[in-house]
Amino acid sequence: MAWIEFDHVTKRFEEVVAVNDVSFSVEKGEFFTLLGPSGCGKSTTLRLIAGLEIPTEGRVFIAGKDVTFIPPGQRNVAMVFQNYALYPHMTVYQNIAYPLTVRKVDRKEIDQRVKYVAENLQIHSLLQRYPMEISGGQQQRVALARAIIQTPNAFLLDEPLSNLDAKLRIEARSFLKHLHMELGTTVVYVTHDQAEAMALSSRIAVMDSGNIRQIGTPKEIYDSPADTFVAGFIGNPPMNLLEVEIIGYRVKLEDQLLEVPELVEKLLKPVDGKVTMGIRPEHVKIADRGELKGTVYVVEPLGAEIIITVKLGNQFLKVLTFEEMNISPGDVIGLNLNREKILLFDERGIRIEKRAE
Ligand SMILES: Nc1ncnc2c1ncn2[C@@H]1O[C@H](COP(=O)(O)OP(=O)(O)O)[C@@H](O)[C@H]1O
Ligand SMILES: [Mg+2]
Repeated sequence: MAWIEFDHVTKRFEEVVAVNDVSFSVEKGEFFTLLGPSGCGKSTTLRLIAGLEIPTEGRVFIAGKDVTFIPPGQRNVAMVFQNYALYPHMTVYQNIAYPLTVRKVDRKEIDQRVKYVAENLQIHSLLQRYPMEISGGQQQRVALARAIIQTPNAFLLDEPLSNLDAKLRIEARSFLKHLHMELGTTVVYVTHDQAEAMALSSRIAVMDSGNIRQIGTPKEIYDSPADTFVAGFIGNPPMNLLEVEIIGYRVKLEDQLLEVPELVEKLLKPVDGKVTMGIRPEHVKIADRGELKGTVYVVEPLGAEIIITVKLGNQFLKVLTFEEMNISPGDVIGLNLNREKILLFDERGIRIEKRAE
Protein backbone atom coordinates (compact mmCIF):
# COMPACT_ATOMS: atom_id res chain seq x y z
CA MET A 1 0.00 0.00 0.00
CA ALA A 2 1.10 3.53 -0.71
CA TRP A 3 2.31 5.72 2.16
CA ILE A 4 -0.50 8.26 1.88
CA GLU A 5 -3.71 7.37 0.13
CA PHE A 6 -6.82 9.32 -0.77
CA ASP A 7 -9.71 7.07 -1.68
CA HIS A 8 -12.57 8.95 -3.36
CA VAL A 9 -12.40 11.84 -0.94
CA THR A 10 -14.98 14.61 -1.10
CA LYS A 11 -15.05 17.61 1.22
CA ARG A 12 -18.01 19.96 1.20
CA PHE A 13 -18.42 23.19 3.13
CA GLU A 14 -22.17 23.65 2.87
CA GLU A 15 -22.72 24.23 -0.85
CA VAL A 16 -19.01 24.63 -1.71
CA VAL A 17 -17.36 21.43 -2.94
CA ALA A 18 -13.74 22.12 -1.98
CA VAL A 19 -12.49 18.62 -2.89
CA ASN A 20 -14.50 16.59 -5.36
CA ASP A 21 -14.11 12.79 -5.35
CA VAL A 22 -10.32 12.93 -5.31
CA SER A 23 -8.16 9.80 -5.32
CA PHE A 24 -4.38 9.65 -5.34
CA SER A 25 -1.56 7.85 -3.62
CA VAL A 26 1.83 9.07 -2.51
CA GLU A 27 4.68 6.61 -2.21
CA LYS A 28 7.03 6.65 0.75
CA GLY A 29 9.84 9.14 0.20
CA GLU A 30 8.10 11.00 -2.61
CA PHE A 31 7.99 14.74 -3.01
CA PHE A 32 4.38 15.07 -4.09
CA THR A 33 2.98 18.48 -5.01
CA LEU A 34 -0.58 19.74 -5.23
CA LEU A 35 -0.49 22.52 -7.80
CA GLY A 36 -3.32 24.78 -8.90
CA PRO A 37 -4.78 28.28 -8.78
CA SER A 38 -6.11 29.90 -5.63
CA GLY A 39 -9.31 28.31 -4.34
CA CYS A 40 -8.89 24.99 -6.19
CA GLY A 41 -8.81 22.93 -2.98
CA LYS A 42 -5.09 22.45 -2.29
CA SER A 43 -5.10 23.55 1.36
CA THR A 44 -8.26 21.57 2.09
CA THR A 45 -6.61 18.45 0.64
CA LEU A 46 -3.55 18.99 2.82
CA ARG A 47 -5.68 19.64 5.90
CA LEU A 48 -7.53 16.38 5.20
CA ILE A 49 -4.19 14.56 5.30
CA ALA A 50 -3.25 16.34 8.53
CA GLY A 51 -6.60 15.51 10.12
CA LEU A 52 -7.62 19.16 10.49
CA GLU A 53 -10.61 18.40 8.29
CA ILE A 54 -12.72 15.26 8.13
CA PRO A 55 -13.94 14.11 4.69
CA THR A 56 -17.60 14.36 3.84
CA GLU A 57 -17.09 11.14 1.87
CA GLY A 58 -14.18 8.80 1.26
CA ARG A 59 -11.18 7.55 3.21
CA VAL A 60 -7.66 8.70 4.05
CA PHE A 61 -4.81 6.30 4.79
CA ILE A 62 -1.36 7.04 6.20
CA ALA A 63 1.33 4.39 6.60
CA GLY A 64 -1.14 1.61 5.91
CA LYS A 65 -3.62 2.80 8.55
CA ASP A 66 -7.09 4.19 7.98
CA VAL A 67 -6.78 7.59 9.65
CA THR A 68 -10.01 9.08 8.32
CA PHE A 69 -11.33 9.70 11.84
CA ILE A 70 -8.01 9.78 13.72
CA PRO A 71 -7.22 13.16 15.33
CA PRO A 72 -4.28 15.20 13.97
CA GLY A 73 -2.06 14.64 17.03
CA GLN A 74 -1.97 10.89 16.37
CA ARG A 75 -1.02 11.05 12.69
CA ASN A 76 2.64 11.96 13.18
CA VAL A 77 2.74 14.51 10.38
CA ALA A 78 4.44 17.91 10.53
CA MET A 79 2.59 20.72 8.86
CA VAL A 80 3.55 24.24 7.89
CA PHE A 81 0.50 26.35 7.20
CA GLN A 82 0.06 29.15 4.78
CA ASN A 83 -0.68 31.24 7.88
CA TYR A 84 2.00 29.89 10.18
CA ALA A 85 1.77 30.74 13.85
CA LEU A 86 4.89 31.06 15.99
CA TYR A 87 4.89 31.09 19.78
CA PRO A 88 5.27 34.82 20.53
CA HIS A 89 6.78 34.37 23.99
CA MET A 90 9.56 32.07 22.75
CA THR A 91 12.73 33.05 20.93
CA VAL A 92 13.33 31.89 17.38
CA TYR A 93 15.65 29.21 18.78
CA GLN A 94 13.01 27.96 21.22
CA ASN A 95 10.37 28.01 18.52
CA ILE A 96 12.43 25.86 16.17
CA ALA A 97 13.53 23.52 18.96
CA TYR A 98 10.02 23.16 20.39
CA PRO A 99 8.94 19.90 18.69
CA LEU A 100 12.14 18.25 19.94
CA THR A 101 12.05 19.84 23.40
CA VAL A 102 8.59 18.41 24.07
CA ARG A 103 9.89 15.00 23.07
CA LYS A 104 12.81 15.41 25.45
CA VAL A 105 15.44 14.95 22.78
CA ASP A 106 19.01 15.34 24.02
CA ARG A 107 20.02 19.05 24.30
CA LYS A 108 23.15 18.67 22.25
CA GLU A 109 21.30 17.01 19.41
CA ILE A 110 18.62 19.70 19.52
CA ASP A 111 21.32 22.36 19.31
CA GLN A 112 22.94 20.72 16.30
CA ARG A 113 19.69 20.31 14.43
CA VAL A 114 18.45 23.82 15.15
CA LYS A 115 21.74 25.28 13.91
CA TYR A 116 21.76 23.14 10.78
CA VAL A 117 18.29 24.12 9.59
CA ALA A 118 18.67 27.74 10.75
CA GLU A 119 21.88 28.15 8.81
CA ASN A 120 20.42 26.68 5.64
CA LEU A 121 17.32 28.83 5.84
CA GLN A 122 19.48 31.88 6.61
CA ILE A 123 17.95 32.67 9.97
CA HIS A 124 20.92 31.68 12.17
CA SER A 125 21.59 35.31 13.14
CA LEU A 126 18.04 35.65 14.46
CA LEU A 127 18.00 32.77 16.92
CA GLN A 128 17.87 34.93 20.05
CA ARG A 129 15.14 37.24 18.76
CA TYR A 130 11.41 36.99 19.34
CA PRO A 131 8.92 36.50 16.47
CA MET A 132 7.74 40.12 16.79
CA GLU A 133 11.28 41.31 16.10
CA ILE A 134 11.64 39.65 12.69
CA SER A 135 10.03 40.16 9.28
CA GLY A 136 7.17 38.12 7.78
CA GLY A 137 9.51 36.25 5.44
CA GLN A 138 11.81 35.42 8.36
CA GLN A 139 8.87 34.21 10.44
CA GLN A 140 7.85 31.93 7.60
CA ARG A 141 11.32 30.40 7.53
CA VAL A 142 11.22 29.88 11.30
CA ALA A 143 7.91 28.03 10.89
CA LEU A 144 9.47 25.93 8.13
CA ALA A 145 12.54 25.23 10.27
CA ARG A 146 10.31 24.13 13.16
CA ALA A 147 8.60 21.60 10.89
CA ILE A 148 11.65 20.18 9.16
CA ILE A 149 13.55 19.66 12.39
CA GLN A 150 11.19 16.77 13.14
CA THR A 151 11.17 13.23 11.76
CA PRO A 152 7.50 12.63 11.01
CA ASN A 153 5.66 10.22 8.69
CA ALA A 154 5.33 13.12 6.28
CA PHE A 155 5.92 16.82 5.96
CA LEU A 156 2.85 18.72 4.82
CA LEU A 157 3.92 22.10 3.50
CA ASP A 158 1.33 24.66 2.45
CA GLU A 159 2.95 27.38 0.31
CA PRO A 160 5.87 27.58 2.75
CA LEU A 161 7.89 29.95 0.55
CA SER A 162 5.10 32.29 -0.50
CA ASN A 163 6.17 35.24 1.67
CA LEU A 164 9.80 35.24 0.57
CA ASP A 165 11.28 37.55 -2.01
CA ALA A 166 12.33 36.05 -5.34
CA LYS A 167 16.01 35.42 -4.56
CA LEU A 168 15.48 33.90 -1.13
CA ARG A 169 12.61 31.86 -2.46
CA ILE A 170 14.86 30.15 -4.96
CA GLU A 171 17.56 29.54 -2.36
CA ALA A 172 15.08 28.09 0.13
CA ARG A 173 13.67 25.94 -2.68
CA SER A 174 17.09 24.44 -3.37
CA PHE A 175 17.59 23.80 0.32
CA LEU A 176 14.21 22.05 0.58
CA LYS A 177 15.08 19.83 -2.34
CA HIS A 178 18.50 19.04 -0.91
CA LEU A 179 17.00 18.30 2.50
CA HIS A 180 14.43 16.00 0.95
CA MET A 181 17.18 14.05 -0.82
CA GLU A 182 19.13 13.84 2.41
CA LEU A 183 16.27 12.80 4.71
CA GLY A 184 14.08 10.95 2.24
CA THR A 185 10.97 11.86 4.24
CA THR A 186 7.70 11.94 2.32
CA VAL A 187 6.61 15.47 1.47
CA VAL A 188 3.20 16.68 0.35
CA TYR A 189 3.70 20.20 -0.89
CA VAL A 190 1.15 22.81 -1.87
CA THR A 191 1.87 25.67 -4.24
CA HIS A 192 0.24 27.76 -6.94
CA ASP A 193 3.68 28.37 -8.46
CA GLN A 194 4.25 26.02 -11.38
CA ALA A 195 8.01 26.64 -11.47
CA GLU A 196 8.31 25.66 -7.82
CA ALA A 197 6.28 22.51 -8.46
CA MET A 198 8.41 21.60 -11.48
CA ALA A 199 11.68 22.21 -9.65
CA LEU A 200 10.89 20.27 -6.48
CA SER A 201 8.52 17.43 -7.17
CA SER A 202 8.85 13.78 -7.97
CA ARG A 203 5.19 13.96 -9.02
CA ILE A 204 2.66 16.74 -9.39
CA ALA A 205 -1.13 16.64 -9.09
CA VAL A 206 -2.65 19.56 -10.99
CA MET A 207 -5.92 20.68 -9.38
CA ASP A 208 -8.76 22.82 -10.63
CA SER A 209 -12.04 23.55 -8.81
CA GLY A 210 -11.72 20.64 -6.40
CA ASN A 211 -10.76 18.14 -9.10
CA ILE A 212 -7.45 16.60 -10.04
CA ARG A 213 -6.84 17.21 -13.74
CA GLN A 214 -3.65 15.21 -14.04
CA ILE A 215 -1.05 13.43 -11.93
CA GLY A 216 2.41 12.84 -13.33
CA THR A 217 6.12 13.55 -13.15
CA PRO A 218 7.08 17.13 -13.98
CA LYS A 219 8.22 15.92 -17.40
CA GLU A 220 4.95 14.09 -18.13
CA ILE A 221 2.91 17.10 -17.08
CA TYR A 222 5.09 19.40 -19.18
CA ASP A 223 5.37 17.27 -22.31
CA SER A 224 1.97 15.58 -22.32
CA PRO A 225 -0.61 17.73 -20.55
CA ALA A 226 -3.95 15.94 -20.29
CA ASP A 227 -5.98 19.01 -21.15
CA THR A 228 -5.82 22.69 -22.01
CA PHE A 229 -6.07 23.67 -18.34
CA VAL A 230 -2.85 21.82 -17.48
CA ALA A 231 -1.19 22.95 -20.72
CA GLY A 232 -2.00 26.57 -19.98
CA PHE A 233 -0.97 26.40 -16.33
CA ILE A 234 2.52 24.91 -16.73
CA GLY A 235 5.49 26.65 -18.28
CA ASN A 236 6.62 30.26 -18.34
CA PRO A 237 5.30 31.48 -20.66
CA PRO A 238 2.79 28.61 -20.80
CA MET A 239 1.93 26.59 -23.88
CA ASN A 240 0.41 28.52 -26.79
CA LEU A 241 -3.18 27.38 -27.34
CA LEU A 242 -4.53 28.34 -30.74
CA GLU A 243 -7.96 27.86 -32.21
CA VAL A 244 -7.48 26.01 -35.50
CA GLU A 245 -9.42 23.87 -37.91
CA ILE A 246 -8.35 20.47 -39.18
CA ILE A 247 -9.07 20.05 -42.86
CA GLY A 248 -7.88 16.71 -44.15
CA TYR A 249 -4.13 16.63 -43.60
CA ARG A 250 -3.92 20.32 -42.96
CA VAL A 251 -4.35 22.69 -40.07
CA LYS A 252 -5.97 26.00 -40.81
CA LEU A 253 -4.78 28.75 -38.50
CA GLU A 254 -6.65 31.96 -39.21
CA ASP A 255 -6.15 32.32 -42.97
CA GLN A 256 -2.95 30.24 -43.18
CA LEU A 257 -2.62 26.55 -43.92
CA LEU A 258 -0.09 24.17 -42.41
CA GLU A 259 0.55 20.69 -43.82
CA VAL A 260 0.58 18.21 -40.92
CA PRO A 261 0.12 14.69 -42.35
CA GLU A 262 2.31 13.06 -39.64
CA LEU A 263 0.18 14.60 -36.93
CA VAL A 264 -3.18 13.68 -38.40
CA GLU A 265 -2.09 10.12 -39.08
CA LYS A 266 -1.08 9.59 -35.47
CA LEU A 267 -4.43 10.62 -34.03
CA LEU A 268 -6.52 7.94 -32.38
CA LYS A 269 -9.85 9.21 -33.63
CA PRO A 270 -10.48 11.07 -36.83
CA VAL A 271 -10.83 14.78 -36.24
CA ASP A 272 -12.43 17.19 -38.54
CA GLY A 273 -13.24 20.77 -37.79
CA LYS A 274 -12.38 23.01 -34.90
CA VAL A 275 -9.76 21.95 -32.36
CA THR A 276 -7.20 23.65 -30.14
CA MET A 277 -3.57 23.35 -31.17
CA GLY A 278 -0.95 23.48 -28.42
CA ILE A 279 2.69 24.34 -28.98
CA ARG A 280 5.23 25.47 -26.39
CA PRO A 281 6.99 28.81 -27.00
CA GLU A 282 10.40 27.12 -27.21
CA HIS A 283 9.14 24.85 -29.99
CA VAL A 284 8.49 27.73 -32.35
CA LYS A 285 11.44 29.02 -34.37
CA ILE A 286 11.74 32.28 -36.20
CA ALA A 287 12.92 31.66 -39.76
CA ASP A 288 13.12 33.83 -42.87
CA ARG A 289 11.11 31.41 -44.98
CA GLY A 290 8.96 30.06 -42.17
CA GLU A 291 5.77 28.17 -43.01
CA LEU A 292 3.67 30.67 -41.06
CA LYS A 293 3.73 34.45 -41.25
CA GLY A 294 3.01 36.76 -38.37
CA THR A 295 3.47 40.31 -37.21
CA VAL A 296 5.66 41.03 -34.20
CA TYR A 297 3.48 42.46 -31.44
CA VAL A 298 5.96 42.88 -28.59
CA VAL A 299 9.55 41.87 -27.77
CA GLU A 300 10.51 41.15 -24.14
CA PRO A 301 14.22 40.58 -23.49
CA LEU A 302 14.72 38.79 -20.15
CA GLY A 303 18.49 38.59 -20.11
CA ALA A 304 19.25 35.01 -21.05
CA GLU A 305 16.11 34.55 -23.14
CA ILE A 306 13.77 36.68 -25.22
CA ILE A 307 10.00 36.32 -25.44
CA ILE A 308 8.54 37.48 -28.72
CA THR A 309 4.77 37.77 -29.06
CA VAL A 310 3.59 37.43 -32.62
CA LYS A 311 0.13 38.22 -33.95
CA LEU A 312 -1.40 35.78 -36.45
CA GLY A 313 -4.71 37.23 -37.53
CA ASN A 314 -6.65 37.62 -34.27
CA GLN A 315 -4.53 35.22 -32.24
CA PHE A 316 -1.25 35.59 -30.38
CA LEU A 317 1.66 33.20 -30.36
CA LYS A 318 4.61 33.45 -28.00
CA VAL A 319 8.09 32.45 -29.10
CA LEU A 320 10.90 31.80 -26.63
CA THR A 321 14.38 32.14 -28.02
CA PHE A 322 17.91 32.36 -26.69
CA GLU A 323 19.31 34.00 -29.82
CA GLU A 324 19.74 37.72 -30.08
CA MET A 325 17.61 38.93 -32.96
CA ASN A 326 17.13 42.18 -34.71
CA ILE A 327 13.35 42.21 -34.51
CA SER A 328 10.96 45.04 -33.70
CA PRO A 329 7.22 45.37 -33.24
CA GLY A 330 5.47 45.65 -36.59
CA ASP A 331 7.97 43.42 -38.45
CA VAL A 332 6.48 40.59 -40.46
CA ILE A 333 8.38 37.39 -39.65
CA GLY A 334 8.31 33.73 -40.63
CA LEU A 335 7.75 30.94 -38.09
CA ASN A 336 8.33 27.19 -38.05
CA LEU A 337 6.63 24.89 -35.55
CA ASN A 338 8.36 21.74 -34.34
CA ARG A 339 5.89 19.15 -35.67
CA GLU A 340 6.85 16.53 -33.11
CA LYS A 341 5.76 18.84 -30.33
CA ILE A 342 2.35 19.91 -31.59
CA LEU A 343 -0.57 18.71 -29.44
CA LEU A 344 -4.25 18.80 -30.29
CA PHE A 345 -7.14 19.18 -27.87
CA ASP A 346 -10.80 18.51 -28.58
CA GLU A 347 -13.73 20.88 -28.08
CA ARG A 348 -13.86 19.99 -24.35
CA GLY A 349 -10.15 20.77 -24.04
CA ILE A 350 -9.10 17.13 -23.63
CA ARG A 351 -5.93 16.13 -25.43
CA ILE A 352 -6.63 13.96 -28.45
CA GLU A 353 -4.50 10.94 -27.74
CA LYS A 354 -1.78 10.01 -30.12
CA ARG A 355 -1.24 6.41 -31.02
CA ALA A 356 1.63 4.83 -29.09
CA GLU A 357 4.82 5.28 -31.07
N1 LIG B 1 -13.64 26.31 6.36
C1 LIG B 1 -14.19 26.61 5.19
N2 LIG B 1 -15.49 26.98 5.12
C2 LIG B 1 -16.07 27.27 3.93
N3 LIG B 1 -15.45 27.21 2.75
C3 LIG B 1 -14.16 26.84 2.75
C4 LIG B 1 -13.46 26.52 3.96
N4 LIG B 1 -12.19 26.19 3.65
C5 LIG B 1 -12.10 26.29 2.30
N5 LIG B 1 -13.27 26.68 1.76
C6 LIG B 1 -13.55 26.87 0.33
O1 LIG B 1 -13.12 25.71 -0.36
C7 LIG B 1 -12.50 26.05 -1.58
C8 LIG B 1 -11.07 25.53 -1.62
O2 LIG B 1 -10.30 26.25 -0.67
P1 LIG B 1 -8.77 25.92 -0.39
O3 LIG B 1 -8.59 24.48 -0.15
O4 LIG B 1 -8.31 26.86 0.69
O5 LIG B 1 -8.09 26.33 -1.78
P2 LIG B 1 -6.56 26.64 -2.14
O6 LIG B 1 -5.71 26.25 -0.99
O7 LIG B 1 -6.30 25.86 -3.38
O8 LIG B 1 -6.50 28.13 -2.42
C9 LIG B 1 -12.62 27.56 -1.71
O9 LIG B 1 -13.75 27.85 -2.45
C10 LIG B 1 -12.77 28.00 -0.27
O10 LIG B 1 -13.45 29.22 -0.20
MG1 LIG C 1 -4.39 27.43 0.14
